[in-house]
Amino acid sequence: MKQNSLPHPNPLPLKGEGDVVSRRDVRSDELRQAVRQTYGQIAQQDNACGCGPSCCTPTAGTPGPAADVALQLGYAAADLALVPEGANLGLGCGNPQAIAALKPGETVLDLGSGAGFDCFLAARAVGETGRVIGVDMTHEMLARARANAQQGGFANVEFRLGEIEHLPVADASVDVILSNCVINLSPDKAQVFREAYRVLKPGGRLAISDIVRTAELPEAVQQDLALYTGCMAGASLIEEVQAMLREAGFEAIRIAPKDVSREFIRTWAPGHRIEDYVVSASIEAVKPKGEPRMKEIKVLGSGCANCETTAKLIAEVAQAKGVEVAIEKVQDMGAILGYGVMSTPGVVIDGKVVHAGGVPDRKKIEQWLSA
Ligand SMILES: C[S@@+](CC[C@H](N)C(=O)[O-])C[C@H]1O[C@@H](n2cnc3c(N)ncnc32)[C@H](O)[C@@H]1O
Repeated sequence: MKQNSLPHPNPLPLKGEGDVVSRRDVRSDELRQAVRQTYGQIAQQDNACGCGPSCCTPTAGTPGPAADVALQLGYAAADLALVPEGANLGLGCGNPQAIAALKPGETVLDLGSGAGFDCFLAARAVGETGRVIGVDMTHEMLARARANAQQGGFANVEFRLGEIEHLPVADASVDVILSNCVINLSPDKAQVFREAYRVLKPGGRLAISDIVRTAELPEAVQQDLALYTGCMAGASLIEEVQAMLREAGFEAIRIAPKDVSREFIRTWAPGHRIEDYVVSASIEAVKPKGEPRMKEIKVLGSGCANCETTAKLIAEVAQAKGVEVAIEKVQDMGAILGYGVMSTPGVVIDGKVVHAGGVPDRKKIEQWLSA
């Protein structure tokens, strides 16, 4: 397969010393802002890969760097002919369709849908009775995807503006979640997986291609914002992804790194030996089918305001996550001390003390209810 030198998915020039930013010092919203800015610019480029006037603007079915990238990632030439011109920006790092096994009538959600490439292929696979929703936080990308949908006459695809950490999608409404080279860009990947779990129907599945880390990144790479927005520096270790999926509630988790991908990753940031540290992987997981067992929750405390707030917050989070809970307020001091809880409110879930003292934050409660 032809190697091309697209600086994909980082079409902006790698930044010099003066632009190096410590990731530790950059708050999540600043990272998000940088990602949004990068992909906003890409979406507005005629030559979307940004690698020179002659190289991009992929034309369906015709060779060109973005088409080459897609073929290299495992798409078929016939796939390229099925999508509107300009939908494939060459920004993926794998082919989630290959593991999704989409069936007619299914509802599909694409996280970070870009110009819509995977959405349009999914739309063909699920047919008229199916539905595809693409979510992207960059409005320039969204505009491009919507124009592509119109150009291609896709009636079963819609694109929604939103962050994948806060999906604009109803609970338990999706059969399959696709995503191609996006989750590594999120500063809060655990939250992305919790949201994915929330919107999937019981038995629903994840079919994701993403960049994952196989070794500790050098400090200079970790600090380079362009390598973050370019889908490299933000990658999590495979074991971390596994743990986040498990904590969100997924089962049948399978993460398959593709060693061959190191060949094209080498071209993304020449000179950084980035291919020694990250790799493209396919990530599969399933939301359990069976109704999750009801969780028995005891809120320990003397009826104080914090105890009431804690019980209310747990009920709210449980409802949002679709987790069934039975909440009992325990005020008897003997019973509270029996749990070994010295400061209240305390929280006991299925017989195990998980908290003592102060109102727990929402994130903590989400984790308890996902476990
Ligand atoms: C590398 S591109 C991949 C686009 C598309 N999946 C493809 O393969 O062509 C990443 C896309 O994800 C979007 N994105 C990144 N972080 C996001 C987030 N936290 N929430 C929503 N969209 C995000 C970007 O705007 C961009 O369109």
